[in-house]
Amino acid sequence: MTNCINHFSTFIYSLLIVIFVLSCNSGEEPMTGGEMMFDLVPPSGIEISAVSETSFRVEWNRVEGAEYYEVTVARDMQLDDGVVPYIDLRENGLGINVINLQSSTTYYVSIRSVINGEESSLSNPAEVTTLSEPDPEPDTALKDVATTFAMGMAVRSSWLTGQHDAVLRREYNSLTAEFEMKMNIMYPSEGRFDFSRVDAIVDYAEANDMHVHGHALIWHAATPDWVENFSGTDEEFEEMVEDYIKTTVSRYQGRVRSWDVVNEAFDDGSGNLRNTVFLRRMGSDYIEKCYRWTREADPDVLIFYNDYNMVIDDTKRGAAVAMIDDFIARDVPVDGFGFQMHISYQGPSKSKIASTAKEITDRGLLLHFSELDIRANPNNNISSLSEERAELQKAKYKEVTEVYNSIPDQSKFALTIWGMRDNESWLLDFWGHIDWPLLYDEQFNIKKAHTGILEGLE
Ligand code: G3I
Repeated sequence: MTNCINHFSTFIYSLLIVIFVLSCNSGEEPMTGGEMMFDLVPPSGIEISAVSETSFRVEWNRVEGAEYYEVTVARDMQLDDGVVPYIDLRENGLGINVINLQSSTTYYVSIRSVINGEESSLSNPAEVTTLSEPDPEPDTALKDVATTFAMGMAVRSSWLTGQHDAVLRREYNSLTAEFEMKMNIMYPSEGRFDFSRVDAIVDYAEANDMHVHGHALIWHAATPDWVENFSGTDEEFEEMVEDYIKTTVSRYQGRVRSWDVVNEAFDDGSGNLRNTVFLRRMGSDYIEKCYRWTREADPDVLIFYNDYNMVIDDTKRGAAVAMIDDFIARDVPVDGFGFQMHISYQGPSKSKIASTAKEITDRGLLLHFSELDIRANPNNNISSLSEERAELQKAKYKEVTEVYNSIPDQSKFALTIWGMRDNESWLLDFWGHIDWPLLYDEQFNIKKAHTGILEGLE
């Protein structure tokens, strides 16, 4: 029996020795106090990515046995000038985004492992330099450079304070109500006018030495329901329209410089008048009647016709110009023509814009580029405004401005931008996808598009 016990003890002793030797060979220290022992080394494979003006990402390889890591970012290779909070900042994962940095600055990143509560040495520092801030666009005020015509902006009565107000007063000297000087707002129900928002806009413009361009007395897309469904006779309808025009224009005599008396009266791609309630109830001479009533209400107000696609739709433009020629021949009061200019960076070409503008200025009329916006994403093939697309948009703004700046002085009236911030543009809802058509981004920052206008004014 004793002999057996001796043999068994020898076997157990030998087994312990084997375990000890194996644990040494596996690079791990023998179990002591219940802790596995690993090589106390810093991480390898440190990689820097996603470098911006103010941030970058750093990632590293896992270290066997590491409970966590400590990240240090400093402005010097000796890691003495640490960047708070990245000084031995604990990180359980294998990477972090380092943010709130200075642009154009070189940083040094070092990582250590913590294993069983002990810190390894620091890794060799990785060097990274943040990007330089893009040169800011020049912030010269547009109205200070457009000395031979007004710089216009579409406006809402809710924009007369705050940052919108600041931009308006700084850069513009002509306002067009984006929607609050249309019949559906000013004449919401029969016999009841509501000029409250018009008064606010006109008061603001006068207080800030800005023109007001009235838009638009008659427009099929902003006609109140009670007018569309007018229950009286045609004669009563015509009397109502005459009263509406004379009430509105005379109210702002001497305060509203000009009116789009009729907007978008012609069908697309044809020479026909749109089939609107005004055509049906007043006859094919309704536009002439509206222009004459406007003149009777204010002998000095400038009377405009306004429409879209006037550059690219030769048939529609031809019909509108023919109407104006007839008015001029018959002394029907008309002073100007508005090209809305809802275009894109892809076109129309500068030469086509110039040649069609000449059709108007050759007739001695005022020309208003009345609703300029330039889509940067007409084909919906970008999800953010790239540098390249912003440059193309800028180039088109420059072309449009160069054309307008080159028309004869006696035809110059205003170059009006249809909206302030990209995110506020009507185009986003209309086309149902993202775009950046205007001069300012959502934070009111000046875009390259704004510089395009400045360069077009040089
Ligand atoms: O601001 C109010 C908001 O407070 C309210 O909650 C909301 C819902 O009622 O309405 C908002 O006002 C809207 C306004 O746009 C501002 O977004 C009006 O309802 C809406 O009718 C108005 O649409 C305008 C549209 O003409 C109709 O008047 C667009 O802003 C304006 O860009 C557009 O402009 C037209 C030109 O007049 C003529 N040429 C085409 C151009 C684009 O359609």
